[in-house]
Amino acid sequence: MIAVFDVAAPHVLRNPYAVFSEMRRASAVCKLMPTGFLSVGRYQDVLSLLQNSKHFSNTGYTASIPPELRSPGSASASIVQMDPPRHGKLRGLVTKAFTPRTIAQLEPRIRQISHELVEAVAGQRECELVQDITVPLPMIVIAELLGVGPERRRDFKRWSDDSVSSLSLIKAGNVAQVKKSAQEFAHYFSGEIELRRREPKEDLISLLMQAEVEGAQLTSEEVLRFINTLLIAGNETTTSLIGNTLVTLTNHPEVFEEVRANPSLIPQLVEEVLRYESPAQCIFRQTTTDLEVGGEHLPQGSIVLPLLASANRDESRFPDPDRFDIHRDTQGHLAFGKDIHFCLGAPLARLEAKVMLEVMLSRWKGLQRVEPEVAWTSSFFIRSPERLRLLARA
Ligand code: HEM
Repeated sequence: MIAVFDVAAPHVLRNPYAVFSEMRRASAVCKLMPTGFLSVGRYQDVLSLLQNSKHFSNTGYTASIPPELRSPGSASASIVQMDPPRHGKLRGLVTKAFTPRTIAQLEPRIRQISHELVEAVAGQRECELVQDITVPLPMIVIAELLGVGPERRRDFKRWSDDSVSSLSLIKAGNVAQVKKSAQEFAHYFSGEIELRRREPKEDLISLLMQAEVEGAQLTSEEVLRFINTLLIAGNETTTSLIGNTLVTLTNHPEVFEEVRANPSLIPQLVEEVLRYESPAQCIFRQTTTDLEVGGEHLPQGSIVLPLLASANRDESRFPDPDRFDIHRDTQGHLAFGKDIHFCLGAPLARLEAKVMLEVMLSRWKGLQRVEPEVAWTSSFFIRSPERLRLLARA
């Protein structure tokens, strides 16, 4: 029988993992209230589901957008909402502009931005690191990748915030404001795309426009849609990864000491945070046919949420899963998804987190939270501290 869980309760937002554990024990498929979406949370089931794009379609993402903001037809679908074969064609083109090698070249600039952000607050005894560090870093990096000048950064941030707030359950989102921002965004970037068409530059938009697979290129509309996806998929998740790492370090001062003494452990720290406090707690799918998961029946057309954060805490895959251990084998964690939709921005997110932590740990000898209780954002999808007031010891 499918067990039912209320996931909007405040105690779930504080600690979703206790409920995930109950869900994994209760049934392979659960029903989440108040949305009524189904969920799958055992590691093996989540993995199989992500590897089965034929029966679990990414059109399920439409359910995350309030009806008044959905665009008609599939022409405006983002890459993450697409299924094969259309997904593969688009992915082939954008991958060309987003290779790990291209991303690795950004390291010096990411380090410079990280230094500037940390230095701006380093003189204060108490800092609020969400507004001052974890939000601006990914925002500035994506803005620069797209060739947006500093004078448009405030607009860029507003467009990005409004795009993210249009996802249901995150914030109620002011529909008129969201639509206005979307129009401004489209107007600005359509102009930039036309400029690059006439005169290519050394930025991501130009690379996207030049990418070619078997004679096919991206249309202006596809480039625009992809830029919008980068804002939604890349900003809040990376902010969350760095914020969750800071929360975890303040809970484990011994790990802070160990990593500060040996910064080569930072990549392991980041991987364990991805597993232990996964930024994207769940993603969306929709069944294309009647089928069964773990003996439970799923009718065609069901919205199903693979709970990545639950899979990453499944004891059958990660022994003693609620223990934070930077020395454990984290291979196989699903924080970036799996298979054809595996996160395109994973190398960038890992690089930003690594570089920012290197800079922070070289600047600060200790970090202590001012508020003992972490104020988590009221979202079931993204796990992230809303604010993070810290006392920093230089
Ligand atoms: C896809 C997580 C950062 C761009 C995904 C998926 C996950 C994910 C779970 C798979 C979605 C699915 O299968 O339905 C994360 C996390 C991040 C992060 C946890 C940070 C810690 C980024 C960044 C970018 C990015 C920085 C780009 C700037 C994308 C894109 C896709 C994607 C374009 C769609 C790929 C496709 O459908 O083929 N991400 N992401 N992500 N991510 Fe990320």
